[in-house]
Amino acid sequence: MNIYYPPQFWKKKKLLFGITGGISAFKVVGFVSHLVQAGSDIQVIMTKAAQQFIGENTFNALTRKPVYSDLFESGEKILHIHLMREYENLVVAPATANIIGKMAGGIGDDLLSSCFFVDPKKVIFVPAMNVDMWHNPIVQENLKKLVAIGTRVMVPSSGNLACGERGEGRLPEQEVFLETLYYLLCSPQSLQGKKVLITAGPTREYIDPIRYLTNSSSGLMGCSLAAAARARGADVTLIGGPMSVRIPSGIRYIPIVSSQDLKTATLEHYDKTDVCIMSAAVADYRPSNPSAVKIKKQGKTELILNLIQNPDILSELGRRKVSQILVGFCAEDGDLLVEAPRKLQQKNCDVMVANRILPGESGFEVDKNKAWFLNKNGEMIDIPLMDKMELAETIIDHLVAFYFS
Ligand code: CTP
Repeated sequence: MNIYYPPQFWKKKKLLFGITGGISAFKVVGFVSHLVQAGSDIQVIMTKAAQQFIGENTFNALTRKPVYSDLFESGEKILHIHLMREYENLVVAPATANIIGKMAGGIGDDLLSSCFFVDPKKVIFVPAMNVDMWHNPIVQENLKKLVAIGTRVMVPSSGNLACGERGEGRLPEQEVFLETLYYLLCSPQSLQGKKVLITAGPTREYIDPIRYLTNSSSGLMGCSLAAAARARGADVTLIGGPMSVRIPSGIRYIPIVSSQDLKTATLEHYDKTDVCIMSAAVADYRPSNPSAVKIKKQGKTELILNLIQNPDILSELGRRKVSQILVGFCAEDGDLLVEAPRKLQQKNCDVMVANRILPGESGFEVDKNKAWFLNKNGEMIDIPLMDKMELAETIIDHLVAFYFS
């Protein structure tokens, strides 16, 4: 299961986790365990109510340090001040209606609520409760108050709730939680207010109702770019062919099948976009006369397919370009540094990301990519072989540096 954040992001991160008394406290065990393994320094604070749902020893063992729960814990330092100065952020998960109300109402009567008042801008609430409690106007009003002073809130997921009802109020699943936390903590938000359109994955060109021509693109590079742009505050639309990877959270996803679908969907969104990244592996050809019924082999020892060329979507975007920053991808096993500048110019792109196809090492169906970033002024940046999520961040940061700073 792909989770879209660069692996190094959690290394040496110092986070406080405030656990309150909700049934979904058990899920936070998984989050904490994952972050500790990813290299973060996690200190857990539990309220009295949280201890009704999960034992301190679980977190003691996972974080390899004692859980704090008592405001008056004896020691040389004033604990709530010390913790909030020492750690980068406080994640309150699950955040019950009670703790949200307490903090919005100015009550600091235990260690966790006292920590909040030291620095509300460092606090991230992850509310989890029954759907009607979540929609209760007092809870919503309280959250607005907290947001107004700089506290961040992770919107709960929708689905089955512990009470047996369905609706909004679920603590997000681990991959959504970790990705959203990465988005919330990522800084600077250099693409805030920008619309980014990304295409990803392969296309399918049907021969008959059940058979098709395609390629081995997984969609990982495009999904990683979508997450990296979202983490920098962009409003991201991802148009993707049938992908073998999970779609990142927090973005608008438009599934398509064929290259013609891809063209229609891309052109529909292109006018309103600031940056368009064509990382989809578009099939160059499609059967000219697909069969409406399953092709039978009876009596045939040979089957000849007639193919016609698909429209070149990137070239069409290049022709229609007004103020968009247009980014193409060029995957080659041949003369990459000749082909990439040629395609950049011919398709009227601003940037071409050239990546080397080395089976099993770089390019398709692997987690890594070796790339070069070329812009239309002839500048070229050689990017070493790296994890696709790291590469996505590098590409987005180069785009920001060239066009948005
Ligand atoms: N592309 C596109 N429409 C196509 C083919 C490609 O929009 N029908 C886009 C790809 O998404 C990519 C860029 O064009 O951003 C370059 O794709 P690539 O396959 O490397 O180049 P082609 O132009 O298809 O040329 P060739 O396959 O002959 O190398």
